[in-house]
Amino acid sequence: MINVTKTYLPDKEKYKKYIDQIYANGWITNNGPMVKLLEKRLAEYLGVKNIVLVCNGTVALEIAYRTLGIKGDVITTPFSFVATTSSLVTNGLNPIFLDIDPETLNLEANNIENMITKNTSAIVPVHVFGNGCEVEKIDAIAKKNDLKVIYDASHAFGVEYKNESILNYGDISTLSFHATKLFHSIEGGALIINDDTLVQKARYLINFGIKNTESIQELGTNAKMNEFEAAMGLCMLDEIELVTAARKKVFELYEKELVGKVQLQEMNEYVTLNHSYFPIVLKSELQLLKVQKALNEHDIYPRRYFYPSLDTLGYIKPKQFMSISRHISHKILCLPMYPELKEEQQKNIIEILINNL
Ligand SMILES: Cc1ncc(COP(=O)(O)O)c(C=O)c1O
Repeated sequence: MINVTKTYLPDKEKYKKYIDQIYANGWITNNGPMVKLLEKRLAEYLGVKNIVLVCNGTVALEIAYRTLGIKGDVITTPFSFVATTSSLVTNGLNPIFLDIDPETLNLEANNIENMITKNTSAIVPVHVFGNGCEVEKIDAIAKKNDLKVIYDASHAFGVEYKNESILNYGDISTLSFHATKLFHSIEGGALIINDDTLVQKARYLINFGIKNTESIQELGTNAKMNEFEAAMGLCMLDEIELVTAARKKVFELYEKELVGKVQLQEMNEYVTLNHSYFPIVLKSELQLLKVQKALNEHDIYPRRYFYPSLDTLGYIKPKQFMSISRHISHKILCLPMYPELKEEQQKNIIEILINNL
């Protein structure tokens, strides 16, 4: 069976060594040495100043909104994983959708200003499939209108914009380290916080708001990453060059064989690619279903992702209609993409796909 993704498991012996260390010091959670080390190493690897590790990418978004004190309406994209929207709703914020560019699949930055009202407090764009948003434009609009920007950068691990980490844009960027991601810690996530003065607030928020044994500073929650997850992250980081090189190879073969045959995502010219996904946009939903069925018959399972468009969620009130996002979500398929995918398997996928267009 070939799934859309397969979790990369780093060297078991190395992981065991980290586990031995955890057993030896008896510290398994609460900002232990593995979490501290992973924060340090990730900050260096990614080229960012402040990184706060948390238990997953959804909670990273929630902590970001609370760190920045976001209220009221938030302009965001309907074309994302459900967590981008649900994290807003569960925090009492109103997602105000803005449609996407049909080629880049990212929020259409040119239309942001028309959407701003007195109730708007923030913009939450997503670097969809690792494709960087127009960060300079978005950040300038936010500054002019006194809005905060939180980039959902769950897909953008390691992506650079004009030779520096794209995570350095906006007020906060969040990452997901879920097992299916390019870099993972089993479950996990992170906040990259650009204002040094906000880092401590985020650290209180992820640990029940506790300042010290005698005082509670904030209304907090429990969003901590544990030591076993951090140890997995450390092992992944040791092998990250291998992972990215293998993904690049898979990506480039798909690209070579499929360019001109199906619509591929148009990438921002200023960003580096991290090869985390390979989405294709088909001519119609009918064609998508045909391709999907043919692949499934060979035990190959691409994923309809993102589907459905988030403006169709039942809990979004008042109703909004994002025609481009809906249109794309009906026709988009992410092809199997992971380091261990073999060339013969990939060629088979490509052949079945092309024969069913
Ligand atoms: C764009 C996006 N945002 C948020 C999340 C949520 O991350 P997590 O699964 O780590 O909670 C994901 C995870 O798949 C995602 O793809």
